[in-house]
Amino acid sequence: MNISEALKSATEVLRESQISDAAREAKSLLAFVLNQNQTFLVAHTEYELSFDEEKRFRDFVTRRARREPFQYIVGRQEFCGLDFSVTKDVLIPRPETEMIVGAAIEILRAKANSEFCEIGIGSGCIAVSILHAVESANAIGADISEKALAVAGRNAATHRVLERLELRISNVFANLPNKKFDLIVSNPPYIPRDDIKNLQAEVREFEPLAALTDGTDGLSIIEKIIADAPRFLKPDGFLLMEIGINQAVAVKALFDNKLWRGVEVTPDFQTIPRMVKARKVQK
Ligand SMILES: C[S@@+](CC[C@H](N)C(=O)[O-])C[C@H]1O[C@@H](n2cnc3c(N)ncnc32)[C@H](O)[C@@H]1O
Repeated sequence: MNISEALKSATEVLRESQISDAAREAKSLLAFVLNQNQTFLVAHTEYELSFDEEKRFRDFVTRRARREPFQYIVGRQEFCGLDFSVTKDVLIPRPETEMIVGAAIEILRAKANSEFCEIGIGSGCIAVSILHAVESANAIGADISEKALAVAGRNAATHRVLERLELRISNVFANLPNKKFDLIVSNPPYIPRDDIKNLQAEVREFEPLAALTDGTDGLSIIEKIIADAPRFLKPDGFLLMEIGINQAVAVKALFDNKLWRGVEVTPDFQTIPRMVKARKVQK
């Protein structure tokens, strides 16, 4: 089978499974299998796939046709310009989450030897990107999932920030040391349990449930973070947290104005209110 034949049959299989943009996905999968860029595919349509290449490609196309996300098949996702390894144990990093990294870098660059903490570190995309950009910063990354922490550790090592990142298994703040940070960041599981059934199959059937939902109304972990964060923040320290669709009003109401100031919600590129920023009061 040559490249042209392989792409034609894969596109048909993916189209039958209602994968949108089947031709593009087929090209991306084949380029990955051949370890080539897409220009190679266009320039070498007569190239004959080896037995192993054809078998791997068929296997990947079958997995994608069953709606497994492309990122889990190839095992990676780009985030903030860095390449992150992803497995089925972690959420696939989303572009809207890059907002948290941008805001965190701005806050931490203004301080010498700053320290921050991430609740729900997952793949490590947020904490690793921040540490990569702010070389004087140190961090603690917490997650309830041991397997997610292992992925975060690998990504931290790949991007040479592991020596500045301490990883801890922890239910929110429960297992964090008794210290105070300049910043707390989090992209917590905020999808209400009842909304999971309406998500696309790629998310619903493949991404870890504990990364998507708190198992209740979507607000319980957010509420816990807002309630406990003041104990772990220095005076004037910041909280940056991602929230879900339609949560801005309810989330703003969770901040006690005796403990917090400057609570603001910033929309993402789709104009969905997405990032909450708040500052602990000066005491
Ligand atoms: C939405 S994912 C975010 C992952 C990563 N930070 C990102 O932005 O792609 C939420 C993460 O929180 C973790 N998590 C869920 N419940 C938790 C809890 N009670 N305490 C700590 N981490 C929790 C999940 O295992 C998951 O890795």
